[in-house]
Amino acid sequence: MMGLTTTEAPYIEQARSDGELYIRQPYELYSEENHQAWAGLYARMTDRWERYANEHFLRGIANLCLSPDRVPNLDDVNQFLNPLTGFRAKAVSGYVPAFLFFDCLRNREFPTTITIRRADKLDYLPEPDIFHDIAGHVPMHTDRAFADTLVRFGDVAHSAAERVQAITDPEKQLRVLDSNIRAMARFFWFTIEFGLMQVPGQPLKAYGSGLLSSYGELEYSIVSPEVQRYPVQLEWVINQSFEIDHYQPLLFSVESFDHLFSLVGTLEEWMKAGKLDNVAPGEPGVNEEDLRSFLLASLQ
Ligand SMILES: [Fe+2]
Repeated sequence: MMGLTTTEAPYIEQARSDGELYIRQPYELYSEENHQAWAGLYARMTDRWERYANEHFLRGIANLCLSPDRVPNLDDVNQFLNPLTGFRAKAVSGYVPAFLFFDCLRNREFPTTITIRRADKLDYLPEPDIFHDIAGHVPMHTDRAFADTLVRFGDVAHSAAERVQAITDPEKQLRVLDSNIRAMARFFWFTIEFGLMQVPGQPLKAYGSGLLSSYGELEYSIVSPEVQRYPVQLEWVINQSFEIDHYQPLLFSVESFDHLFSLVGTLEEWMKAGKLDNVAPGEPGVNEEDLRSFLLASLQ
């Protein structure tokens, strides 16, 4: 079967078995069903974005000129995005190991999934797809303060790689890295993926991409009494585990993207001071590839 459907795309299978992480977007391979999936996802989100998305996102959506009917072509997206913040969406075949991911952000490149979920299962998402990445993440990258925040994440990853280079005991080196990566992943999760924005005196809004690309969870995150919502606290976030397969019961809010930017600076200070070397165990797991990506970077 042709097409670029999540977990069913021969083009992606081939790229992965050839070990190609950065790929081109073979736009001609999208099937009618793929475009229908995009159109279905987009149509039902517009009203919810109006109600629950932060203003930077709404401006981003307008600036990117995404089609409501067709899967976006990354080259078109980049023509609108790049002049605004220098960011570009870069097609990948699958999971990007942690250091490489953060390093891409530092170079103002956003690793972007090009497959799309099945049109008959719009709510079912086994892994990120192009709707999550382009409609959820990329509109935020049109905002300067937000874009600069992502770049700072890349700086933190570089500092971590440099720092563990100085640790001579290999066992300790791995333990410290594991904890540092876990802390960074948690911070990224509770801000970039699931962050809320509470501008003082204004209604609560969402800016996290996991929320902005989910029809059900976007509304749930703002209105449900089942969700605990707190002003972000770095010491809490880096020690808080999370599960990815259901709506989040705990969310954190920032006041602005300048606020978020300064938090990433604090994260880096804490990392350099060794305060991220023993964060609480639990999710997310740090895999072999994540660790190796940092160790390889520290050798360069
Ligand atoms: Fe994401």
